[in-house]
Order: sequence, then structure tokens, then C-alpha cells
Amino acid sequence: MSGILYEQDKKYILNTYNKLNIEIDRGEGTYLIDKDGNRYLDMFSGIAVNSFGHNNKKILEKIMNQAGKYIHLSNYFPMEPAVKLAKTLVENTFANQVFFTNSGTEANEAVIKIARKFGNNISENKTKILTAYNSFHGRTMGSLSLTGQEKYQKAFEPLMPDVEYFEYNNIKDFESKVDQDVCAVILEVIQGEGGIVTANTEFLEKIEILSSKYNFLLVIDEIQTGIARTGKFLAVDNYNIKPDIVTLAKSLGGGLPIGAVLTSKKVENILSPGEHGTTFAPNPVSCAAGLEVLNNALCEVFLYEIKDKSEYIITKLKELQVQYPSIIKDIRGIGLMLGIDVGEYAGVIKEKSFENKLLLNVTAGTIIRLLPALNITYEEICQFINIFERVLKEI
Ligand SMILES: Cc1ncc(COP(=O)(O)O)c(C=O)c1O
Repeated sequence: MSGILYEQDKKYILNTYNKLNIEIDRGEGTYLIDKDGNRYLDMFSGIAVNSFGHNNKKILEKIMNQAGKYIHLSNYFPMEPAVKLAKTLVENTFANQVFFTNSGTEANEAVIKIARKFGNNISENKTKILTAYNSFHGRTMGSLSLTGQEKYQKAFEPLMPDVEYFEYNNIKDFESKVDQDVCAVILEVIQGEGGIVTANTEFLEKIEILSSKYNFLLVIDEIQTGIARTGKFLAVDNYNIKPDIVTLAKSLGGGLPIGAVLTSKKVENILSPGEHGTTFAPNPVSCAAGLEVLNNALCEVFLYEIKDKSEYIITKLKELQVQYPSIIKDIRGIGLMLGIDVGEYAGVIKEKSFENKLLLNVTAGTIIRLLPALNITYEEICQFINIFERVLKEI
């Protein structure tokens, strides 16, 4: 069945992604079903977007209910789903206000403006933003400038001025870059696109101390790590630090587009009417879906189960590592954001897994990135391990 859609996609849509040659008919929880009725176990859930499974009935109900009332009003009206979503985020995090966007990139773009205004309010030189090498913060020109990876940036230079890069987990390098002219530091606590690289506690704590000394905004990009992915509502809660700003997106809308900038008291009402905005956000239907997402993601038992499932997957993968040490070089990550370093085998593993009806994502060239639905069952985890083992055996 597959083939025609794939070819037409190539012909009519700008070729910015290497796609799978598959025609999806529908999703059901952790599975995607193609037009021929084949069921694929999805271990990356739309790159951490479908965190509560495909076609989640409760999320769908909230979407339908809100869509039947109004789909868009514009920012000239207060909207109940948006206010409720912001209130829930504020009541359950460090934040005291929220700015909504349509995507993760846009959330980080808003951060750049907040950071620059924060700096400009203090001194005309306080314009520098520090960001990590190997990070990923988006693809628009501002957020791309924050993305410390040459492969994404090179073709699009010149980038935004006053951005400097530091080595992740390297306190000395960070200290050599930071000064009074820094208005913000942005980083992921687990570099997702960068290959599931986890921040050291010591490194983050040092940055927090320096944020007081040099009075810069500590911004944590939780677009991939946030909303229960690591077994805490925010991944930064795995560490003993308090951010000034957190950005969210991906799973927040239960599959619908939405991003959010969570801001602390330090930047309360920093943007005035007219200084920033967007036509579409906050989309009330996305917000209604988001309320159902938070209903699940803030549940303690649910968060506990994520940690439990994570431990189970890691244990099983470590058993496989003992059997196949030349293929599995490392297993890392937190919660259900896990990376398996398989070096040069990444491509072939992904291909063979696909043939075996297992959908895997590869990031940073060598890392199998697991981002399954957070409500994945133990039975489905076992199915994943069995197929993965079969693939390793075939190789
Ligand atoms: C950490 C991080 N920041 C920002 C983004 C960009 O988000 P979006 O693709 O919604 O614009 C991503 C997307 O993968 C991400 O993982």
C-alpha cells in the first residue's frame, strides 16, 4: 500500500525531513496502524508529543467539546480554557504567569525578547545570552542562534548577535563566559536532540549561584523534557534549582500545537501590550486539550509509575547490553526519555526495527531515542524489548 503517498509527499512538500515509507491510517494508544492493517509499536510518540497515546479518548472529548463552542476568538478576549490552563500551570510550578505560543520555537523566541528587555532595563550592555554547545532550542533565526550546533546553523549565517556558547557540564568553561553583560542563560536539563545528555547536578547548581551573582535569567527549555516525561512534572525538579523561566510545548496540547513560557516573579508583567503577541495563541482548543494533559501529568501516582517503568526498561536494556556489548555502548536518560548509544548501528537498527513493526527514532546520528507514550503498559514494554532483542540478534 505504501509508496504513492510517500512519492507525492516528496513531490509536493518541501523536503525538510527524511520520512518513513508508510501510510498511517490511525493511531491507537501506543500503536500506529497503516492502511494495510499492520500495527506498529510507536516508541517515540510523535517526538514526545503524543505522550498520552494516539487517539486518547479523554483528550479527544475535551477537543470536541471546546471546538463545538469556539475554535478561535483572538487575543482581544479572555478565554476560559486559556485562563484555566495558565492557572493550573502557575498553581503547580514555580511560575506566577504564563505566555502562550503555538510551538516550542516560538516559546524560545518570546524568551529572547523577555531576556533582552530584562537586560535593557538594567543596562544597555546587558544583552548577551549564553547557551550550550550541542543544545537544541528551535529553528527560527532567534532560536536557531541559541541552538549550539553548527550543522543546524551553518547554512543560515549570519545569526543573531550577542549569543555565546559554553560547554555543557563544564563549570570552568561556563565561568569563563559569564559576566555582568549576560541577561539570560538557556539550557536543557537533558539535551534531547543532542543525544540524551543529562546535566550534572553540580553544574546546574553552580549556574544558579552565578545567576544571583550576575543577575541573569536562568531559562530552562523543557520543551522535550517537561510535562512528566522524566517522572517529575518538570525535569528541573529532579535537581535542586529554581529557574526564572521555563519553556514548554510538545505534549502540552495532547497533539495540538501549543507552547508556553512560564515566568517567575522576577519578570512579572515584563512585556507591555503591543510588545509581543501572536494571532493564534493561545488556541482555546489546544488549551482545553492541555487541561486534560495536565490532569494526568500532575497526578502523583502517574509520575511514580513513569519512574517504575523507566527502571524496568533500563534493567532490561542493561541485560541486552551484557549480551551485545559491541552494539550497545551506553544507556542513559531519566524517566521515559532514554537514549541507547548504538554507535554506527543506529541506522540499521532503526531500519530492521521498522521491518519488525517497531518505530524507533535516532538522534545525534548514533543514539536510539526512546520517548514512548507515558502511559505505555508493561506488556508493550516487553514487546519493545522482545523486538529490539530480535533485531540485535539479526545484526
Ligand atoms: C528542547 C527543544 N527546544 C525547542 C524545540 C523546538 O520546538 P518546536 O519544534 O515545537 O518549534 C524542540 C523540538 O524538538 C526541543 O526539543
